[in-house]
Amino acid sequence: MIEIAPLRVEHLAEMQEIENASFDAPWPGGAYRSELTTNRLARYLGGRRDGALIGFGGIWLMVDEAHITTIAVRPSERGRGAGTELLLALLVAARAGGAALATLDVRVSNVGAQRLYERLGFRHVGRRVRYYDDNGEDALIMTTPPLNDAGQVAREELAATMVRAGAPLPDASAFDAAERTASAASVPRGVQ
Ligand SMILES: CC(C)(COP(=O)(O)OP(=O)(O)OC[C@H]1O[C@@H](n2cnc3c(N)ncnc32)[C@H](O)[C@@H]1OP(=O)(O)O)[C@@H](O)C(=O)NCCC(=O)NCCS
Repeated sequence: MIEIAPLRVEHLAEMQEIENASFDAPWPGGAYRSELTTNRLARYLGGRRDGALIGFGGIWLMVDEAHITTIAVRPSERGRGAGTELLLALLVAARAGGAALATLDVRVSNVGAQRLYERLGFRHVGRRVRYYDDNGEDALIMTTPPLNDAGQVAREELAATMVRAGAPLPDASAFDAAERTASAASVPRGVQ
């Protein structure tokens, strides 16, 4: 379990350290400063263990859509649920900000991140060819179902229960089953 709270300008150095350790083409110094100080659409959350920032993520709230701008966990802290907890918190912030769904772009090669996103309901909906300048790699576009769908909420509840118990996450099929069960239960009687 990590403590998650909004990030402010005094946290920039810790954020940049994680950014630099996490991406081959990190956002340059100054990008997060403007995200935190001037971008009124942006919300950034940081996760702390024993007081130290171990990861962060952000969204842009664009009318009824939340775009996940980034998510990163300090390499030594990965594989313990922090990424899942951060993504769950971003989805909660997205709903609170009025978003009906969430979207993101991810490198085709980043299959680890794609597994995280798929567990939490993101599906491939498109591709941006040669999107990344550094190596010409394509981006996959991923989107959630409506965030208030019972199936989506059930996915998030399953993930939250597992990470807060310190347990490994089940594979995608368990999440798909949780979504199906909750969706079926939420269909009003009489509707075919
Ligand atoms: C993507 C990223 C944010 C994931 O963060 P993370 O903290 O490792 O994520 P989690 O710990 O929640 O999940 C990762 C794996 O650990 C497993 N795990 C989580 N808690 C666990 C536990 N208590 N015990 C054992 N395994 C666990 C998960 O099941 C998951 O397994 P998988 O590899 O089969 O999918 C991280 O790898 C990262 O910062 N990567 C570099 C930046 C990046 O690529 N960001 C995405 C850009 S689009």
